[in-house]
Amino acid sequence: MTLGGSSSSSSSSSSLGTHSYGETAYWDDRYRKDGGPFDWYQKYAPLSPLFDLYLRRSHRLLLVGCGNSVLGESMVDDGYQDIINIDISTVVIEAMQQKYKDKPALKYLKMDVRDMAGFESNSFDGVIDKGTLDSIMCGHNAHENATKMLEEVARVLKDKGVYILITYGDPSYRLCVLKNLDTWTINMHVIGLNQGFCCCVDLPRCFCMMFLCTKFML
Ligand SMILES: C[S@@+](CC[C@H](N)C(=O)[O-])C[C@H]1O[C@@H](n2cnc3c(N)ncnc32)[C@H](O)[C@@H]1O
Repeated sequence: MTLGGSSSSSSSSSSLGTHSYGETAYWDDRYRKDGGPFDWYQKYAPLSPLFDLYLRRSHRLLLVGCGNSVLGESMVDDGYQDIINIDISTVVIEAMQQKYKDKPALKYLKMDVRDMAGFESNSFDGVIDKGTLDSIMCGHNAHENATKMLEEVARVLKDKGVYILITYGDPSYRLCVLKNLDTWTINMHVIGLNQGFCCCVDLPRCFCMMFLCTKFML
């Protein structure tokens, strides 16, 4: 079962039903049963050299669909000072608020990435997405929801801000979706998958992609 497809792609379906990844109830249930921590695809250490090329420790950052990943914690331990995490699952957000109540550099809010009205436009230097566009693209109305999400991501980013997408989706398909918004320049890197992650899921390939999308003024 992978997050690589879209609802229009037959390869995205499995006996477990990848459509569930687009549903809030699925994530609430999953986080109720398993408090984690769990990191999809990759942990911070192998990603950090690429982050360093685009992010400063003082940047205001947004992690969308944070789940119970330790990415935010690892970044703060590495000197990042201001990270807001959002997720659509109330269950995981309440757990993360409790877990990190003594780490003021990390904030957790329940919010849908497709509607981030709580954030001002042009207010973040970077938005990091590890697996969240993928999960939205597994759900129903994948294309419409992905467009809403990316428009919101672009809106909250400052000029020259960067959207960092770590994805298991088909690279050419993800590139198409990103290019639909004529708002950023895109660089792409291949990232190996974490060995532990490879062991716990049935995957047809052992790499994912990192897209670095830098917003330009329209
Ligand atoms: C594949 S998990 C990735 C979790 C984490 N980023 C990681 O790397 O381990 C996808 C996450 O996106 C969240 N999510 C799904 N749809 C969302 C939405 N519309 N808005 C915000 N979060 C969403 C889910 O609750 C889940 O925590």
